[in-house]
Amino acid sequence: MKISNIEFTDKPLFLAPMEDVTDPAFRMLCKRFGSDMVYTEFISADALIRSVKRTEQKLTIYQEERPVAIQLYGREPEAMAEAARIAAQAQPDIIDLNFGCPVKKVAGKGAGAGLLLNIPTMLEITKAVVNAVNVPVTVKTRLGWDDEHKVIVNLSEQLQDCGIAALAIHGRTRSQMYKGDADWTLIGEVKNNHRIHIPIIGNGDITTPERAAECFDRYGVDAIMVGRAAIGRPWIFGEMKQYFKQGENIPLLSFDEQKSILKEYIIAAVQWLDIDKNIELESVSNQYLKGIIHSRRHLAASPVFKGIPNFKETRIAMLRANTLNELFGIIDLVSESQLRF
Ligand SMILES: Cc1cc2nc3c(=O)[nH]c(=O)nc-3n(C[C@H](O)[C@H](O)[C@H](O)COP(=O)(O)O)c2cc1C
Repeated sequence: MKISNIEFTDKPLFLAPMEDVTDPAFRMLCKRFGSDMVYTEFISADALIRSVKRTEQKLTIYQEERPVAIQLYGREPEAMAEAARIAAQAQPDIIDLNFGCPVKKVAGKGAGAGLLLNIPTMLEITKAVVNAVNVPVTVKTRLGWDDEHKVIVNLSEQLQDCGIAALAIHGRTRSQMYKGDADWTLIGEVKNNHRIHIPIIGNGDITTPERAAECFDRYGVDAIMVGRAAIGRPWIFGEMKQYFKQGENIPLLSFDEQKSILKEYIIAAVQWLDIDKNIELESVSNQYLKGIIHSRRHLAASPVFKGIPNFKETRIAMLRANTLNELFGIIDLVSESQLRF
């Protein structure tokens, strides 16, 4: 499978773009465990144009994580084209357009999934961006606005005609937000449409290796994108790849290895957000609040600590810890034996 000139192995797995989750530190871990492509979180076109520093920081990408897509959102063709030119300077492998974000502050203002109510503007944006940059442009969207307007089959042809290199489809409508089950039947219909020749990336509720294999087989998608199931669990890509090869779902990492990956992520998040250089051992007692707070989402969601009896107190302490010393002390104390007995 190829997206533009980027070649992928069989059954590629992509890390979905996720706000406040898919930072470079996390993306590199996912890549290490086998994710075939990673996406930045969505980046506001308007904020990029205004040179907002925190937004510009989101454009940072590293060689080790390639191929990487920078995802943009906005509602005006000219602004999106301008933002794409700025993003292209960061040399991403792909520029992805977000036409799927359902939250009010985005969709309510006519960006993200809001563009599912305004297809002419969505297509204008797509054409404007494709014409503005030399980087392959892809789109990520949903089935439609609501149950009565599941437009994706038609829309995919229209988007393809605008010159996009691939299309990712989250099998929900905007109205569903994240509720109900993702419906893959329409994703399959798009893939089986003989007029569609661009790669189709399926997304929604892929949480196990078995489900990933089933969706590749049943719907014939070119790639699968994994979102929430990867939070606090970047090794899920390795588990899926292992299953594709061997047909067995066996844990990739031991309990202690999983804990050390979480710690490695926390350190990388601190390096990313609080300091630029390597952390010296003696400085682990310092407060690196930005990185620690940022990594809490992964700690809270991680399956590593699930199933440990009476874990509530420890969990609260873990999510309140303000220093690396304190946080690592808590993580180190949790042992696999607690899981067994
Ligand atoms: C915390 C969070 C942040 C998200 N941020 C983005 C985003 O920035 N851009 C985007 O296209 N989708 C975003 N999404 C949607 C995911 O990319 C994905 O489409 C959705 O979670 C369904 O896939 P999943 O069932 O594998 O999680 C986000 C989802 C979550 C849970």
